[in-house]
Amino acid sequence: MRWAVVNERIEDLKEFSNYNLQNHNTFGMKVKAKRYVEYGSEEELQALIPTLSGEVLHIGGGSNLLFKGDFEGTVLHSAIGGIEVAEEVADEDEVLVRVGAGVVWDDFVAWAVEKGLGGVENLSLIPGEVGASAVQNIGAYGVEAKDVIVMVEAVDLASGEKRVFANSECQYAYRQSIFKKELKGRYAITYVTYRLHKTPQLKLEYGNLRAVLEQDLPHGENRPALGLVRQAIIDIRNAKLPDPKVQGNAGSFFMNPVVSREKFLSIQKDYPQMPFYEVANGVKIPAGWMIEQCGWKGKSLGRAGVHDKQALVLVNLGGATSEEIIRLCDTICQEVKKKFDIDIHPEVNLV
Ligand code: EPU
Repeated sequence: MRWAVVNERIEDLKEFSNYNLQNHNTFGMKVKAKRYVEYGSEEELQALIPTLSGEVLHIGGGSNLLFKGDFEGTVLHSAIGGIEVAEEVADEDEVLVRVGAGVVWDDFVAWAVEKGLGGVENLSLIPGEVGASAVQNIGAYGVEAKDVIVMVEAVDLASGEKRVFANSECQYAYRQSIFKKELKGRYAITYVTYRLHKTPQLKLEYGNLRAVLEQDLPHGENRPALGLVRQAIIDIRNAKLPDPKVQGNAGSFFMNPVVSREKFLSIQKDYPQMPFYEVANGVKIPAGWMIEQCGWKGKSLGRAGVHDKQALVLVNLGGATSEEIIRLCDTICQEVKKKFDIDIHPEVNLV
């Protein structure tokens, strides 16, 4: 495949010892990394590998992490930039875009929307970087990264070898991938290739998205443009989710549990108003709703709080320690278990 580079790469190796990670985790924890290295290319990463010893943690934007304390090993961060567009594709309507792992996710979404390329607009404003989109299978408003990922390029942190994973090899599921399971910590993702479309197939069925959009549609038009969808998603997110620059948080703290149909029906008898989504292996129940039912929305324990507009999000009310956040997390898990007999689990990585 030949690629046309459409914006610049940044190539700049940076290395620090006893490095403050406060600006690299959106919870705003004041923790240090014994060694911190930011690399700007695959070659720089490969050259670094023989120097790695002890524990290694590869971070992205730090928007899905809770540090329990200082990190005594090496923290790696990719600054591989660049957006490239494939020069030949089989289908006229498709555009294959290869994006550096260090590109800020929403910068890529903004780029795609501006070029009129559909596929990622529902994932507007998700914090984090392109590499993490492929690890975490980020998702929102009815779209997941796996729906648009074609392939993932990675470097083996043990041998330095490059490997290309086709989408089908990534074992994608809800907030899950091979990079979080058997290959956890083994590979650093360097590039992700996405399939976008010149004729966007809009997905507007999630929640109140269509209703919000209909209000914004210019008179006489019934089909929203990509820019309007992006704006509606940004407005919905801004109304519900706290800005980490103002109040430390890592987005949804918990995953939404999937329960069997029988279990769902038995809970529904007591809570007929419970929201739910049918999924392949059962029924998904929004953890945020259960946490709200337990009375935790807008409440706090020490300096750790539950966001008042979305109970799935735990917030640092100012100077919270990770112990305080974890205590709140554990308390909520126990109460949800007691009330609904359902186990909920953190989505955020505890390090
Ligand atoms: N709900 C409540 N109370 C709450 C929160 C939610 O009753 O405090 C109810 C809502 O009324 C709605 C349902 O739960 O009926 C679902 O709520 P919402 O649409 O806000 O989505 P969510 O399931 O809570 C998930 C993702 C979000 C993503 C939204 C939209 C996970 C773990 N979270 O949240 O992703 O933005 O859907 O697609 O799947 C993230 O991963 O960090 C994240 C923000």
